[in-house]
Amino acid sequence: MDGNGRWAARRNRPRAIGHRAGARAVNLCIDFCLERGISALTLFAFSSENWGRPEEEVGALMKLFMGALEREVDELHRRGVQVRFIGERAPFGEAIAKRMLAAEALTSGNTRMTLSIAASYGGRQDIAQAARALALEVAEGRMRPEEIDEAAVGARVALADLPPPDLFIRTGGDLRISNFLLWQLAYTELWFTDRLWPELDADLLQQAIDDFASRERRFGLTSAQRSGEAPAIVDKAPGPDIMSG
Ligand code: IPE
Ligand code: MG
Repeated sequence: MDGNGRWAARRNRPRAIGHRAGARAVNLCIDFCLERGISALTLFAFSSENWGRPEEEVGALMKLFMGALEREVDELHRRGVQVRFIGERAPFGEAIAKRMLAAEALTSGNTRMTLSIAASYGGRQDIAQAARALALEVAEGRMRPEEIDEAAVGARVALADLPPPDLFIRTGGDLRISNFLLWQLAYTELWFTDRLWPELDADLLQQAIDDFASRERRFGLTSAQRSGEAPAIVDKAPGPDIMSG
């Protein structure tokens, strides 16, 4: 979700106003996904690097975050949304961390859509903590080093229980991943737009989905294999959703 600051600057308003407009776009995006029956939405709300922004901006973001937790969670629960947070909790402080935990507990049984909020999240940090978890298991004799494979790492990164993302959308014109779900995005279709995050609307999201639907996903195989005209050696193919993606 990129471009809040530029959206505000174009209006000669403080960056915090851009973030507030960005929060409206978040609600629009959630509504869209619920209407379309999309089962998992992950939003990159705040990166581990964003703590380095000016104190005033970080403060405004935390206020916005706390406000959203207070206002939106009950409604999300009522609509059958499971809310979770990925990333480091501790830096947010007790009040926000408690609210996050409460939101997760309240909505943990919901199945209509999983909404994951990446907050103080970094893709490298995610992979590093998976490596640390594996190292600990080996050190404690619960695992052997030769058992460490893609599945073992994949089971220890964030969102391990969800299918890998089908579509990645970045607003704001920059053509990079910026340390989002590095492991999980290996076979995700990437979609970029110059439109700023607060300018998001249903038409833009539909454009992204239409573009996604027109792409051929081969997961490292040939077209003929993917269409079933030639046999696929499924064991050797990447990605757990190899025959359905
Ligand atoms: C994204 O908008 C929101 C957060 C990182 C919280 P930016 O704040 O990065 O907006 P620009 O890139 O400065 O326009
Ligand atoms: Mg930015």
